[in-house]
Amino acid sequence: MRTAIYPGSFDPVTLGHQDIIRRAAAVFDRLIVAVMHNQNKTPMFSVEERMEFLRRTTGGLDNVEIASFDGLLADYARRQGACAIIKGLRAVSDFEYEFQMALANRKLNPELDTVFLMTSAEYMYLSSSVVKDIAVHGGSVAGFVPEELVEDIMLRTRKGD
Ligand code: PNS
Repeated sequence: MRTAIYPGSFDPVTLGHQDIIRRAAAVFDRLIVAVMHNQNKTPMFSVEERMEFLRRTTGGLDNVEIASFDGLLADYARRQGACAIIKGLRAVSDFEYEFQMALANRKLNPELDTVFLMTSAEYMYLSSSVVKDIAVHGGSVAGFVPEELVEDIMLRTRKGD
């Protein structure tokens, strides 16, 4: 049983994330999508909301679990018996940060490798920040996030205005 962890803020999950989840789930026996707390970011959606969005978009994938974790990814991976971290790479600009994290995580847990999946070309430009920016300004996020989430994300984003 080969377990991988796909960590991230997922604030909110985008079509780009969904694509990486599907592809990673096809390669590993078990995939844990872990909603992590990123100390450099203030999320728009709560961890519970982000997990709910992920559950709704991964319902058809039997080997995918949605979890959340606050702490060191390398320790969490060890406890879950994971052999790999999954990361999506969009552009060269992602590389330096991801490379640094991959090396740090392997130093913290030498049995853990980071597996990079190249984004599908149609999602090169896509990020959760782009989605939030469109939504808070009243635009439609259709075509940016999984279809079943479009309405909810737009409603919840504009809740406070
Ligand atoms: O989607 P993001 O915000 O780019 O994901 C970043 C995330 C959550 C994967 C990263 O911040 C992380 O791994 N946080 C857990 C804390 C940790 O292990 N830090 C050391 C990484 S070298």
